[in-house]
Amino acid sequence: MSKTLVAYFSASGVTAKLAKTLAKVTNADLFEIKPVTPYTAKDLDWMDKKSRSTIEMQDKASRPEMAEKLSSCAQYDTVFVGFPIWWYEAPRIIETFLESCDLSGKTFVPFGTSGGSSMGKTAQILAPSCPGAKVLSGKVLRASSSEADVKAWVDSLHLA
Ligand SMILES: Cc1cc2nc3c(=O)[nH]c(=O)nc-3n(C[C@H](O)[C@H](O)[C@H](O)COP(=O)(O)O)c2cc1C
Repeated sequence: MSKTLVAYFSASGVTAKLAKTLAKVTNADLFEIKPVTPYTAKDLDWMDKKSRSTIEMQDKASRPEMAEKLSSCAQYDTVFVGFPIWWYEAPRIIETFLESCDLSGKTFVPFGTSGGSSMGKTAQILAPSCPGAKVLSGKVLRASSSEADVKAWVDSLHLA
């Protein structure tokens, strides 16, 4: 059994593609974080102050429900979690996921995709949701990243 997990949420497929490349490069198990209610195009309209994504991101306590929980993350030493950057941070469902598993003693590596923003304070914002974990700052990867690019990033982390 692999000791690395790549979990990801992707609303429109960009992060999903990179997560699959990352899982291949790290020989990891892959887990998709799926919302009970999928996001429609209307939900994702960041120009609309009343859209679902805007409302969730304005509410730091929002925890959109996951369709499926990970049965156990006890066997993993390193957990990568990928997501699109929404309003300069991770979508709230990432906090739902982190709070659904015990990452204490594990290394948590966030990664994102975006329209141009970097990680900003994303890792700091997520840290309280995974007490006891070693939280790396992570990185926004380009949508066009090749397998070699992803591998170069993973190598630069010097994971045990
Ligand atoms: C609600 C919402 C908010 C977003 N906020 C940002 C942002 O703050 N900065 C940015 O560069 N891109 C932002 N984007 C663009 C996404 O991060 C980008 O398209 C991402 O690659 C989508 O990944 P996905 O296909 O895995 O969902 C936003 C997209 C949505 C839908």
